[in-house]
Amino acid sequence: MTEETIEPRTPVNRREFLNLAWLATLGFFFVDIAGVTYFFAMPRFREGEFGGLFTIGKLSELPTLGSAPVNFPKVKLWLANTEEGIKAIYKVCTHLGCLYSWSDQEVKFICPCHGSQFDSDGSYIQGPAPRDLDIFVVQAVDPDTGEVVAETPADGSALSIPEGKDYLIRVDTGSKINGQPHS
Ligand code: FES
Repeated sequence: MTEETIEPRTPVNRREFLNLAWLATLGFFFVDIAGVTYFFAMPRFREGEFGGLFTIGKLSELPTLGSAPVNFPKVKLWLANTEEGIKAIYKVCTHLGCLYSWSDQEVKFICPCHGSQFDSDGSYIQGPAPRDLDIFVVQAVDPDTGEVVAETPADGSALSIPEGKDYLIRVDTGSKINGQPHS
């Protein structure tokens, strides 16, 4: 019978222990930083969802000039093609937040809660609402390069789209412009 020889263990000295603890702390720190960076770098809303970018379609596919605004329930907007240009109108009333709708008979938006009324471009007509309807920024995007060639001005006026291409029309539902107060 042979006797097994056991190598004696060398204990970790204080210096080695501190080095290991330091490396472990550093590792946790970098994992944390990477996690936080990833979280903030990711877009909070995905394309096509309310809060993100939503592609309506091509310029040639828009509702004809002066026709009734088109409802996009998924991204909470009405799209209006007016004499001045394109408007993406947030479908929440500027009075107390009810959902208004378009009336084909009256040819205007009417809120069922307290009767505020608005024109097809979102301009206030009458009722307790304090301002025009809010709108989202609309962008005309070059289909070849992906470059934004025009977008809704900061004052909230309609987007007039340059001629020349069948641009993609995209709405940024994360960029809302409040309607103008009426006097
Ligand atoms: S919430 Fe629309 S009129 Fe009051």
